[in-house]
Amino acid sequence: MTKKATLEIDGKKYDLPIVEGTEKEIAVDISSLRSDTGGVVTLDRGYKNTGSCESSITFLDGEKGILRYRGYSIEELAEKANFLEVCYLLIFGELPTKTQLDKFHKDIKAQSHVDEDVKRILDGFPKSAHPMGVLSSLTAALVAFNPSSVNVESEEDMYKAIVKILGKFPVLTAWTYRKRMGLPLDYGGDSLGYVENFIKMMFKSPSGDYTSNPTVVDALDKLLILHADHEQNCSTSTVRMVGSSHAGLFISISSGIAALWGPLHGGANQAVIEMLEAIKADGGDTKKFMAKAKDKNDPFRLMGFGHRVYKNFDPRAKIIKKAADSVLENMGIEDDVLDIAKALEKEALEDSYFVDRKLYPNVDFYSGIIYRALGIPVEMFTPMFALGRLPGWVAQWREMRLRKEPIGRPRQIYVGETKRDYIPLEDR
Ligand code: ACO
Repeated sequence: MTKKATLEIDGKKYDLPIVEGTEKEIAVDISSLRSDTGGVVTLDRGYKNTGSCESSITFLDGEKGILRYRGYSIEELAEKANFLEVCYLLIFGELPTKTQLDKFHKDIKAQSHVDEDVKRILDGFPKSAHPMGVLSSLTAALVAFNPSSVNVESEEDMYKAIVKILGKFPVLTAWTYRKRMGLPLDYGGDSLGYVENFIKMMFKSPSGDYTSNPTVVDALDKLLILHADHEQNCSTSTVRMVGSSHAGLFISISSGIAALWGPLHGGANQAVIEMLEAIKADGGDTKKFMAKAKDKNDPFRLMGFGHRVYKNFDPRAKIIKKAADSVLENMGIEDDVLDIAKALEKEALEDSYFVDRKLYPNVDFYSGIIYRALGIPVEMFTPMFALGRLPGWVAQWREMRLRKEPIGRPRQIYVGETKRDYIPLEDR
């Protein structure tokens, strides 16, 4: 294979090294382009073709619909692993032994206490505040309560920060929900598994006992696994970028939450259900909305369709579609919006607009249907995504620091005014 690429600018040739990944992906390394050429940079809006780092965490092949965490296929992990094992795998690189997993869980539990004063910050938010804004703020506030900075050279320090955020974040997520619902905050239970504990903190009624529902625990566990990492997506790149200035783990995660909130990213799961509800309220005419999605003069997009990297199918969507069916069946729920979703999917997959542009349902197309069946309100869908993505953000932040990556600082092509003279106020 070629070991270099040659670039010609104004008749002058420059050799650029080729970097090859373990899955045979190749990249042209342009690190020295600007200095070699005396100022030429590359321009790649939205980073569609730019690798920002080398990473050993997640591999995905958008053309073939492959997603693997640390080499293990998403299909196998979703079927056989639990979320906490996947957290460990993503962050530390290997599946844990039973002893390692037990210790990891114990250490997370020991760090799950959130300072009582954080409740006062939570109380300051109106009930109507979007939970993503609240969650991002509370995660940032954690820094004030855990001010010591992490010495990334110390495995022990790094581990402590990791178990802290994995312990406290589910508490913050559940509290954000309970505040919104006007419920007293719950502290979970030490004997419960990681995901089950979260479910208890969310749903335990103030007066009743908590009873476990294995269908709910399994479904949520699976959803969290499917969302756990997705290499250099918008929120993960944000976490790495913020962390690259040597900002701490918690504040980098808080920035990731903000990036995830947008409807083109994690916010899509909320947008999908709202869209399906709107179609239902409008009489259920899916064809009308398909036409709107294809109309270039209409800003409407089919939410939950399309993906920056999956141009075949999103493997997570397949697993979720199946899970949605079984959750609804197990819980004896009939949901009209599932029928609307299936009709939309079928029409889109047969429509040349969507086929030609390789637009397929993404992970969020069906996840909202499951969340709804589990009794999670629509504004909490994106926080659920954040909870799932947390180990990915942590793993990527850790990798970025351990690899001693330089501060992220892209270049630009300036297209503004050239030099001009200041005009005094009275002359303008
Ligand atoms: N509905 C209708 N048309 C679409 C859609 C859609 N959902 N998605 C893309 N297109 C069209 C675009 O209009 C464009 O058409 P054109 O070539 O005729 O101009 C073409 O498909 C390519 O679209 P881009 O926006 O250039 O693709 P990009 O890779 O930048 O965007 C994105 C990907 C943001 C996910 C986009 O498909 C989208 O907005 N989808 C809906 C929102 C969504 O579901 N987001 C969740 C993504 S998954 C996640 O973050 C977990």
